[in-house]
Amino acid sequence: MIAKEPLNIVVVGVGLIGPRHAQHVAENPETNLMAIIDPSPKGQTVADELCTTWFPSIAEMFQYLDLENLPYPDGAIVCTPNHLHACVLAELAVKGVHLLVEKPVSTSLGEAKALKELAQEHDVKVLVGHHRRFNPFIVAAKELLARVGEPIAIQGTWALHKDDEYFKMSPWRTNTRLGGGPLLINLVHDLDLLQYLLGPIQRIYAEVMKKQRKEYPDVDEGACLTLRFKNGVTGTFLCSDKVVSPFNFESGTGENPTVPSDDQLLGFYRIFGSHGTLSVPDMTLYHQDELLGKSWLLPVSKSSLVGERSELRQLKPFTAQLQHFVEVIRGRAEPACQIDDGISALLCIEAVIRSIDTGLPASVGCPSEVECDYTTLRYKKK
Ligand SMILES: NC(=O)c1ccc[n+]([C@@H]2O[C@H](COP(=O)([O-])OP(=O)(O)OC[C@H]3O[C@@H](n4cnc5c(N)ncnc54)[C@H](O)[C@@H]3O)[C@@H](O)[C@H]2O)c1
Repeated sequence: MIAKEPLNIVVVGVGLIGPRHAQHVAENPETNLMAIIDPSPKGQTVADELCTTWFPSIAEMFQYLDLENLPYPDGAIVCTPNHLHACVLAELAVKGVHLLVEKPVSTSLGEAKALKELAQEHDVKVLVGHHRRFNPFIVAAKELLARVGEPIAIQGTWALHKDDEYFKMSPWRTNTRLGGGPLLINLVHDLDLLQYLLGPIQRIYAEVMKKQRKEYPDVDEGACLTLRFKNGVTGTFLCSDKVVSPFNFESGTGENPTVPSDDQLLGFYRIFGSHGTLSVPDMTLYHQDELLGKSWLLPVSKSSLVGERSELRQLKPFTAQLQHFVEVIRGRAEPACQIDDGISALLCIEAVIRSIDTGLPASVGCPSEVECDYTTLRYKKK
């Protein structure tokens, strides 16, 4: 299908991240920001700022479109709180609207699996918004990974300090059950990326971070992990949202305009291999002279594998992700991050939580073994 007209896209949920998506949709010549949907007064404000229509709910939008005999949107970008993703997605999928959903795909594995079935039944494509896969630093890391030889181990960090305002603004962020906490909001990004770079994770052992926010007893503040991948690669990863640190994806890549970037940051990921070590986001390869051989008694050289970091920072992952969504809706590409990829990242988080609860290493399940749960979706498979 080649659509000449811009695609009509709605953005559902315009709290912290939704307005950024909406802005990108409004700026892209191939997309038209058809409407903003959000029950809060901010919905109307964002819609006014971007010169589009506001609906307080998805049901009211469809009601209006039916009444006026107008076509449904081609696609929707869903940015509601994590625990509402699945029911919101289902409401749109049954009307044939293609979907880009913010990560995590859902807070429930069964709901995510049911959504996959529902989307297939209605011929709807779903792109899971692990947008960092489109980040130029990750695109480069994937291309350059072979330079380390056989990957053997990985060391990674995502650590920063979220302020009190962030928790006061959206109460769901203070409850792990509703998808709050850095495991489901942030670590899910990194574990998706590590799997994207190194293949599926098989086993995780996790220790929960020391609690500091006593006023929010129902939410974690991160964890320290030991990882084993199916291909034998091992790793460690540290995630915390309450330490003062620049060692995180946002600071290192400058991709989030609200988090100050650090141009000099070295190694929030280090991938160690048989022939060298790749450090991201500085994209430095540490290696030894081929002719002299490999030895701890010989110097380790450094090569910069990309030009200026500032050039990589120019390429915006949200722009690339939206462009890919356009290609998916137009039938020119399959989603680069499918529901099963979202389920796979969620299975990793589920293993982290299980390991914290039991004090034992936890096996990571397989998406094909997850059973559908339609309970909260309100729609049944025909
Ligand atoms: N990709 C990223 O870097 C990134 C960054 C931040 C958040 N996120 C994800 O984006 C999603 C939203 O996070 P946030 O921090 O913007 O949340 P938020 O709480 O700031 O905003 C959520 C918005 O959704 C609205 N909403 C609630 N129920 C709704 C419904 N049924 N229909 C329409 N709107 C509804 C709320 O009124 C609110 O405005 C989460 O899934 C989160 O994990 C992704």
